[in-house]
Amino acid sequence: MQNLPLPVAVLFSGQGTNLKTLAQAAANQQLNIAIRCAICNKPTAQGIQHALTHGLQTHIIDHRQYPDKPAFEQDLANALDAAQVELIILAGFMRILSAGFVQRFSGKMINLHPSLLPRHRGLDTHQRALAAGDREHGSSIHLVVPELDNGPVIAQYRMPIAPHDTPISLAQRLAPHEHRLLQAVIALFTQCAIQVKSRQVMFNGQALRQPLLLDQNISWPINN
Ligand code: GAR
Repeated sequence: MQNLPLPVAVLFSGQGTNLKTLAQAAANQQLNIAIRCAICNKPTAQGIQHALTHGLQTHIIDHRQYPDKPAFEQDLANALDAAQVELIILAGFMRILSAGFVQRFSGKMINLHPSLLPRHRGLDTHQRALAAGDREHGSSIHLVVPELDNGPVIAQYRMPIAPHDTPISLAQRLAPHEHRLLQAVIALFTQCAIQVKSRQVMFNGQALRQPLLLDQNISWPINN
């Protein structure tokens, strides 16, 4: 018997291609999730159109309209509480959340980050990977903790850097794999194969010691 869909929220700030992929996968029943709400902090973000096209409950919570971060985060938290979600997916959400906010949703929030963490936390990750002479680059999904991009890494996609790569080519090459990575990890949450117990990520009942690798330990689409 199919479990009930996992209620999730997706937060984004820009193009929203990850949100779009998740909404499509939910609509096609490839992912057993119910996107209870999509939240964007930028009124001009392209991704808002994807959220509306898919008929998602869409909140535009513009941080610039608030006197301070606590006021902004209060509305964010209210929207998440009202949606009663079990997983909060930061998919290109470009605001740093306070420790109090993160603790309030502790163990329930994951972030997609475009680098092989712990390398290159923060911004401009493609450019920094090139400048550092890295041979490999990729994306990570980690549990959100109060320290920026520093939570336990759940899964990664790794790819070699080619001599002719630029920040743009890296971003373009990575994007479809980020989409797969996010779906693969969320599928594991829906199957309870990934669970979080007091800041510890469990995979199939065991503490996860190393990130799962897309196309090695996990795959997407599932029949790949
Ligand atoms: C993705 O590349 C994601 O890794 C990155 O933003 C992009 C969102 O793309 N996230 C971060 O930089 C978080 N620090 P999208 O809006 O098309 O889904």
